[in-house]
Amino acid sequence: MTKDPVKIAVQKSGRLTPRSLELLDRIGLDYDRSPDQLLCVGRNMPVEALLVRDDDIPELVRDGTCTMGFVGLNVARETEYQRRANGQECGFEVVQELGFGQCRLAIARQETDQWNGPQSLQGKRIATSYPHITQHYLDQHNIDAQVIAFAGSVEIAPALGKSDFVCDLVSTGATLAANKLIEEDVILESHSVVIRTTRSTSAQQDYWMDKLTQRIDGVIRVQHSKYIMLHAPIKALAAVTRLLPGSEAPTVIPLQGCNEKVAVHAVCRENVFWETLEDLKAAGATAMLVLPVEKMLA
Ligand code: PRP
Ligand code: ZN
Repeated sequence: MTKDPVKIAVQKSGRLTPRSLELLDRIGLDYDRSPDQLLCVGRNMPVEALLVRDDDIPELVRDGTCTMGFVGLNVARETEYQRRANGQECGFEVVQELGFGQCRLAIARQETDQWNGPQSLQGKRIATSYPHITQHYLDQHNIDAQVIAFAGSVEIAPALGKSDFVCDLVSTGATLAANKLIEEDVILESHSVVIRTTRSTSAQQDYWMDKLTQRIDGVIRVQHSKYIMLHAPIKALAAVTRLLPGSEAPTVIPLQGCNEKVAVHAVCRENVFWETLEDLKAAGATAMLVLPVEKMLA
């Protein structure tokens, strides 16, 4: 085992797990899994991934058990506000947006309640698994309300008579709907992020963390990129290239034995939809191929 590996905390089982593990693959980490499946040890880099509960990730990164983590911004912010409320330093920083696991933390009310903005929370009870973010929001709006911390199943608190409102994570909205709760104010837009410890790390760890950060950047940048290849009549070349979404100067290649047409290759930074292909075809393009882009290093 390598001395001083980079240790990445990753959610063990949940919403972010599949995409987090896929990201480890895409940044080139080849690993063996421990018999309990909770530790992935890199074979080709001094990097380990620890599979843990998402709520534990910020603390593990703060105390230096892990050097970085992939976690929901909601979980990171909750720990940050908790520590700040206790007069403690945060101990980690958000260094990258991963852009998956979109969800929002929102206040929701019962059908029988009214909503006239945050003021409606005055003097009420709010059940949440995010007591510190909720309190921060109340403080910002100068509202005095009772925040009731729940470890999970927040959505049933009003029906049990335990709270008047909830402040819960919403993704599809199905959980709120099933519990007859109506979403009102969004207090945090969340998605997965990379956090990094603010403790000092070794030169080797810094080297590998920087490398991983660069590779993650490359993976994120190509997420929606496509490589498009087509044939275009020379006289329609300008019109065709204008239609290529978000592309830089395309490569134009002559076609053997054909004087009227050229091949055009371009990286499009946005997705290429059927409508674009249909427009390209109308402009004279033929033999169009759209390929996914796996990696990009500028
Ligand atoms: C969240 C939240 C809701 C549900 C909302 O829990 O607490 O129960 O997801 O999703 P929906 O809008 O798609 O119905 P999560 O699954 O993240 O579990 P956890 O809070 O225990 O980590
Ligand atoms: Zn959780």
